[in-house]
Amino acid sequence: MYHLIHLAMNLNLSKLTIAAFRRKTLLYGIFMFLLLLASQSLWAQSAAEGKKLYQTCKTCHTIGGGRLVGPDLKGVTERREEDWLIKFINNSQEMIQAGDPTAVELFNDYNQVPMPPNNFSDDEVRSILKYIEVVGEGGSVEEATAEKETQPQAEAEEPTAEKTTAEQAKDEIDKEITQRMLERSRNYSPVFWISLLLIFLSIFDLVITRLIKARFVHVVIILIGVIIVTEITVREAIALGRQEGYSPDQPIWFSHQVHVQQNKIDCKYCHHIAEDSKYAGIPSPDLCMNCHNVIREGSRTGKEEIAKIHDAIENNEPIKWIKVHNLPDHVFFSHAQHVNVGQVECQECHGPVEEMHRIEQVKDLSMGWCINCHRKAEVVNFESNAFYEAYVKLHEELKAGDIQKVTVEDIGGNDCQKCHY
Ligand code: HEC
Ligand code: HEC
Ligand code: HEC
Ligand code: HEC
Ligand code: HEC
Ligand code: HEC
Repeated sequence: MYHLIHLAMNLNLSKLTIAAFRRKTLLYGIFMFLLLLASQSLWAQSAAEGKKLYQTCKTCHTIGGGRLVGPDLKGVTERREEDWLIKFINNSQEMIQAGDPTAVELFNDYNQVPMPPNNFSDDEVRSILKYIEVVGEGGSVEEATAEKETQPQAEAEEPTAEKTTAEQAKDEIDKEITQRMLERSRNYSPVFWISLLLIFLSIFDLVITRLIKARFVHVVIILIGVIIVTEITVREAIALGRQEGYSPDQPIWFSHQVHVQQNKIDCKYCHHIAEDSKYAGIPSPDLCMNCHNVIREGSRTGKEEIAKIHDAIENNEPIKWIKVHNLPDHVFFSHAQHVNVGQVECQECHGPVEEMHRIEQVKDLSMGWCINCHRKAEVVNFESNAFYEAYVKLHEELKAGDIQKVTVEDIGGNDCQKCHY
């Protein structure tokens, strides 16, 4: 690839080399180049794909972090055959019904919680397995070093976090977005930069070197380049736009107001794993069926929306909910720590969910937001919880009346490594 770029540059820059080429060869070369570009684009995407596809699995699985709803997936490619995994990941229930002994045993071991079916191609499953292998083998080491490289910058940012006004916080988010956008295009899109280079070279040739006489070649290259560049930029912008106020249309008109406020269903009825897991989880269609087996009509949406749950069950397809709240991969956040240990209400972080027909992200989920709460928030049961006995000095100060309360920051909750892998 890079040889080709060099070649292309040389072609443009050194007239001597050019003289040896016939114009047609040059044209041909450029089309080959574009073709390669396209295949390179596919390759780069498939490398990142496994990671992307794995996002839905995170609700129930860890890689090396122990058991959640489902098994720890670390080393799964060693304990199972690839064919078995491809079948199981796409439709475990079918295998269980067919009596596959391993699948049946797993199902029973995991309280007969059905794993939601997927509709992946073989290659897609392979890309997920690849990702699981990389992370399982300590691919996180790589991430950890990447973290270190960025740390000095954030340390420089820290002092400003102290005098946050709303304006500053907003500026910081904007800065972070731009920075992350650049980072992502560096990570995932050599295509992005190559396209940019091609556009530049074409314009350069069109105006200055004029090696290729046929104008349409320039036009084609510039057009394709611009399309690719905008595509990538827009996609990244959307991915990063999941900030405050993000409220996407969901595949089913599911209303928290109808369920929580009007029908008094507890948050933890549906998000029951929040108490003792990193995740709060989105309920499976089977759970909806506990009620919607019988309730087949809603007062706002009639039969249409509830029928989608039945369709999902009949076709054995998951409901494709769009995730609203997203932290970057390098941030560690645990619901159990906050909901169960810290006794923080869901609403403090998610706003008045019980009033929402459609979920909206009301907090920016920025680092400043986490840290500010940790500065103020009191550690509950600090005095009685044996877990905190190690903080002798804090206990003494508390007794002597030097301090009134112990905050999360006091116990080291704002240390970088508490939130960053
Ligand atoms: C709603 C929770 C849930 C989600 C989401 C989920 N799984 Fe599972 N998974 C389970 C459970 C539970 C089991 C145990 C088997 C069973 O109960 O059927 C399991 C088992 C597995 C196994 C077998 C593990 C072993 O030790 O052999 C693999 C592999 C697997 N899941 C991969 C995935 C992948 C890949 C995804 C994402 C595309 C995913 N799972 C999403 C719940 C889930
Ligand atoms: C009847 C089941 C049910 C109950 C009860 C319920 N939820 Fe949900 N929740 C869902 C479903 C389904 C989704 C995914 C669809 C959506 O985003 O609206 C969801 C999504 C969410 C999300 C957005 C997740 C994301 O994508 O980032 C939050 C936050 C949330 N719920 C919080 C709560 C809180 C807080 C309560 C209690 C006040 C609650 N839920 C009660 C079923 C429920
Ligand atoms: C504990 C019982 C219960 C569960 C679980 C439950 N619902 Fe409901 N749902 C209700 C009730 C009660 C209504 C109100 C029916 C009415 O409007 O009379 C309702 C209404 C609805 C409506 C129609 C709203 C309207 O006003 O038109 C939809 C759509 C819906 N639910 C989807 C879901 C989905 C999706 C899930 C699973 C994530 C789910 N429900 C889980 C009890 C439940
Ligand atoms: C201290 C803040 C905080 C509290 C308290 C909290 N959440 Fe969350 N919640 C978050 C953050 C941050 C995310 C995004 C996590 C991510 O992307 O890794 C999230 C994500 C979610 C999701 C998306 C699915 C998932 O598991 O990531 C749901 C659903 C949810 N929360 C529901 C709840 C419910 C229900 C409660 C109360 C029982 C609750 N949350 C309490 C901060 C909080
Ligand atoms: C509304 C207040 C609040 C917000 C917002 C909040 N936290 Fe916390 N957090 C707490 C409390 C309270 C505890 C203490 C729990 C306990 O008693 O151990 C805690 C504890 C923690 C711990 C464990 C600290 C330790 O020393 O053991 C981590 C890690 C953490 N939070 C990460 C986060 C991240 C990441 C975010 C932002 C995405 C966040 N928190 C946002 C209130 C908050
Ligand atoms: C209480 C949790 C918490 C603590 C403590 C914390 N961070 Fe963060 N950090 C976050 C969250 C959440 C984000 C993601 C913000 C976003 O997506 O806008 C983040 C983002 C970052 C980023 C930006 C990476 C990116 O996405 O572009 C850097 C760099 C960073 N943190 C470094 C640090 C350093 C250095 C420390 C110690 C001084 C630290 N963090 C302490 C929660 C924390």
